[in-house]
Amino acid sequence: MSAYLITGANRGIGLQLVRQAAATGETIYAGARKPDEAEALAELAKLSGGRVKIIQLDVGDEASITAAAKALAGEPIGTLINNAGIMGSRNTALQMDPAEFMDIMRVNVLGPVLVTRAFLPNLRAAPGAKVAVVSSLMGSFSYETTSYIAYSTSKTAVNRMFNSLARELAGDGIGVAILSPGWVRTDMGGPNATLSVEESARGLLREIARTDASLSGKFRDYAGAKITW
Ligand SMILES: NC(=O)c1ccc[n+]([C@@H]2O[C@H](COP(=O)([O-])OP(=O)(O)OC[C@H]3O[C@@H](n4cnc5c(N)ncnc54)[C@H](OP(=O)(O)O)[C@@H]3O)[C@@H](O)[C@H]2O)c1
Repeated sequence: MSAYLITGANRGIGLQLVRQAAATGETIYAGARKPDEAEALAELAKLSGGRVKIIQLDVGDEASITAAAKALAGEPIGTLINNAGIMGSRNTALQMDPAEFMDIMRVNVLGPVLVTRAFLPNLRAAPGAKVAVVSSLMGSFSYETTSYIAYSTSKTAVNRMFNSLARELAGDGIGVAILSPGWVRTDMGGPNATLSVEESARGLLREIARTDASLSGKFRDYAGAKITW
């Protein structure tokens, strides 16, 4: 195996992914939009003996993505986890604000695609590399809802993008994992969610690791269950 790159690593599911991945002994590049404010991540990095390295990475900002990729040029990355995401307001299609819709699409759809493109040389340098996107059950047409429609639409769209990427990257032997983390107790999921970050992150890391050609591009949850598009 080789290094991990995890976006949105300063809190929530991302922070826990860093914590558990660091326990494997690999190097973890932990992306944070505002490293100066990432206190919990900085503490984890301090205790990791140099294995957890914080990098500035705003997935909604192309210049930030380019700078991060330049900083890590030549470093093989075996696992890229596109975890960063925003939910926005609970508005329906009739209510939603166009500017907020575009922000959500930029961060949740374009961001993971541009990050994956930017770090493709790093993934190609790591035999058997995996790239994952943390999607959501709300992106499935089986989840019938009218609220949070911009968020739901962004997750449907990123699923389509990563399903396509799976075909594009098959020749490189790179597995593409499209995963719902479950309903998780974070700032986004809220206190009533059914899963702890520990359980969700453990499942996500296990499912990413077992993403071979037969699972690449499929939509699954943190426990490995298939989700319909
Ligand atoms: N929690 C759930 O129940 C649940 C369910 C389904 C899917 N998900 C998905 O799981 C992922 C993680 O969610 P979470 O529950 O951990 O959410 P969270 O607690 O709200 O954390 C979101 C993370 O994304 C980061 N982020 C937001 N915009 C960013 C940007 N432009 N560039 C880089 N980082 C950015 C945040 O950084 P800042 O602190 O800088 O804002 C934070 O680290 C998301 O993709 C979410 O859609 C979560």
